[in-house]
Order: sequence, then structure tokens, then C-alpha cells
Amino acid sequence: MSSSKNIQYRVSSGGALNGDIRVAGDKSISHRSIMLGSLADGVTEVSGFLEGEDSLATLRAFRDMGVKIQGPDKGRVTIHGVGIDGLRPSNKPLDLGNSGTSMRLMAGLLAGQKFDSTLVGDSSLSGRPMRRVTDPLATMGAKIDTTDKGCAPLHVHGGQTLKGIHYDMPMASAQVKSCLLLAGLYAQGETSVTEPGVTRDHTERMLRAFGYNVEVKGNHVSVQGGGRLKATTIEVPADISSTAFFLVGASIAANSEIRLTHVGINPTRTGVIDILKLMGADLTLENERMAGGEPVADIVVRSAKLNGIEIPEHLVPLAIDEFPALFVAAACAEGKTVLTGAEELRVKESDRIQVMADGLIALGVDAQATPDGMIINGGQLNGGRVDSHGDHRIAMSFAMAALRASGEIVIDNCANVATSFPNFVEIVNGAGLSLKVNSL
Ligand code: S3P
Repeated sequence: MSSSKNIQYRVSSGGALNGDIRVAGDKSISHRSIMLGSLADGVTEVSGFLEGEDSLATLRAFRDMGVKIQGPDKGRVTIHGVGIDGLRPSNKPLDLGNSGTSMRLMAGLLAGQKFDSTLVGDSSLSGRPMRRVTDPLATMGAKIDTTDKGCAPLHVHGGQTLKGIHYDMPMASAQVKSCLLLAGLYAQGETSVTEPGVTRDHTERMLRAFGYNVEVKGNHVSVQGGGRLKATTIEVPADISSTAFFLVGASIAANSEIRLTHVGINPTRTGVIDILKLMGADLTLENERMAGGEPVADIVVRSAKLNGIEIPEHLVPLAIDEFPALFVAAACAEGKTVLTGAEELRVKESDRIQVMADGLIALGVDAQATPDGMIINGGQLNGGRVDSHGDHRIAMSFAMAALRASGEIVIDNCANVATSFPNFVEIVNGAGLSLKVNSL
């Protein structure tokens, strides 16, 4: 969880990235493995589980609700499923730390239980919008209290009868879609959503892996309530969102060549590859295969001269977590990069448009925040000091920026890197960056 200490990164300028790297496990898939494994009949074995604070918060929450979970031990987790109606009330609030995915998906899942639950989070999570899930859940018959501003703590009243609804989602959000599908497991009849843009489909894939029928027709997804889940084996691939820092780092740093192994390349997540290729990056996918119902590949990336582009809006939801890293790529590219249609970035772990623009400007980059994106004129990056505002992806993106900066970059408030990529410092230093950690 975010600590009161300022974990500061000091990253020397220059250097190159080389070698073979397997980054941490996929966060989205790790969360879902705990949730569905807990609700299944039988024992689910997970490998490659992300031992980061976010997915560990989900794991602890299900333990608090009476599920026996062994591990994680080197990414291995054994979940003794309690069945669809087997969860027990926790005797304390469920603390989900910094994790929006845990809170939004669990709001749906807990709305269908017989008991009450309280969901709490850290200061960042307690400022993020929750009405996007509590409003549609209320139309299903759920009763969930939020603060006056529509934020956590969430108090979920159990014992409600849920009815299936059709929901036309106003924003492209996998968290909202997944929340409603999980509530739909407990609802009478059919629950369906349509999404305005393609979002990650890990919930749909994993429900099927647990033997639950999910209908998908174009942008329309539906489930029938009242079924059961059957335990399975889950192999979590490396997280493409954590890989993204290395795709950008090795592209912008001279004399770099790295191979990122066993990366999840689910087509609902590969916007970062498409955008970097449009910018001129040298990326090659090798050894493409299926692992545990998800496509994976090794990605080889070499230094390249990047050009500014207008980022196609349809790629935005497919790269939604990768924009902090992509803004660094744009700052190192020749010419102008324009992002539009990405207002969702303002309600992530931080306001990623403002915080990234402020940091880039502090490094001498010509960056202009807009309501729904950013305009960046690429050029020289100076050294300097930036604040990640406790946002893991911003901290890691600015660490990579040092590869092309003319001086040292100092990054404040980096503790939350542990939410998604606990061994980032070790891996990035092993690959050729020079990053020192201070605890202030
Ligand atoms: C996630 C969905 C995305 C993403 C988040 C993880 C998920 O959020 O930003 O990091 O696991 O479903 P939205 O669906 O709100 O865009």
C-alpha cells in the first residue's frame, strides 16, 4: 500500500537496455484468478501470479471472506474454492489499497451475497469515481452506499434480490463491464452490456475457462445468472502493461535490444504495440502461442528513431494503461504527437494527463495537457525532479525517460510501483538502467 515514506528514485542519465526479461505477471488476470477461483467448486492452481500489492489486496480480501488460499510462492497460488454461495462475511472492512480493479469488480460480486461488506482503499482509491458501478448495480436491485461524492468507502448491503439488466455503457471500461458480469452471476435472468469501444476481455475468457457460458456478439456481452464455476488451472502471462516501459525504454535508448518473454498479447491489450509501431518502433513478435486461454509471445525490441503521430482514438481503450510510457516515447520522438479521446486518464491512480504534462514540462519538454489528452512536441529531455503523485505507472515511465535525458531524473513518491511491478528496480537495473532508491 502507499506508505507515508517518500520512496524516491534517482535515475542517472543515458545508458542502454539489453538482455532477456520476464516482467511481473498480469495484474488484471491475477485479480480475476483469485475472484473466480474462490467462487469455483474445487481447487484452482495459479502460476505466474503477480505478487504485487494490488493483486495481494484481492487475495487477502478473499481470505478475509473465508477462502483458504495458499501462497503466493514464486507466483504459485492454490485456491480452495468455496462455491458460488460459499463466501462468508469478513469481520473487518476489506482493504483494497490502491486497487481500482479490486474495488469495482468486487462491488459487483459482493452485491449478490447474503451478507454486508465494506470496501475501503487508500487516499487515491478513495477519490476515484464509483458511481460508474454503483448506479447500474442499483438498477439491478443492489444497495450500495458511497460518500456524497460517489466514492469509497463502499458499504454493500447483502441479501438483495438482483435482476438481470441490459446496460449500455457510457464509457469504455473493462472494470464496469466486469463488475456487471460478476453481479450477473447472482442475478435472475440475463445480464448484458454493450461497450462503446473494445476493452480487455479477461473476465469473459476466464469465466469460460471456469466452465461458465458467456455470449459475445460484437460489442455485446451477456451472462445468465444461477450457474456454477468449475475449478481450473490458470497460467498468468507477463503483463503487457509492465512490458510497455521496456518497449519504450529500449526504443528511445541508443544501442538497445531486449527480448521480453511470455508476454500476454490479448488483442484487447495490444494498443501499445500498434501505437509504437505507428511511431516507427522496431518491435517483433516471436514464438506466438496460447497459454491458459490467453495468447502470449516474446517481443523483441531494438532502438529506433520515433516520429510523432496522431494517435487513432480506437486504440485508446486498447492502450489505456500505457499512456504514461507512450507520452515519454512522444517526448523523444521527432515532431508532434496528439492524443485525443482519452479523458479516462484523468480518473486513474492519478490524473495521468495533468501529472504527466507537469513532469514532462519540468524536464523541458513542450507538452500541453488538453481536457481529453495531450499535445507533445518531441525534443531534448533535460534532467530534473518530477513527482509521480503515488502513481506506479508514472514513476516507471519517468525512470525510462532518464535513458534519453541530459541529466539525472529524480522521481518522488514511487512506493506504489510495488502495486503492479514489485521487482521493477532489480529488473531495470539488471537491463542497464542506473536507478537508486532513497527512502526519505
Ligand atoms: C482494468 C481495466 C482498466 C485498467 C485497469 C485494469 C481491469 O480500467 O485501467 O488498470 O483489470 O479490468 P477501466 O476499465 O476503468 O478503464
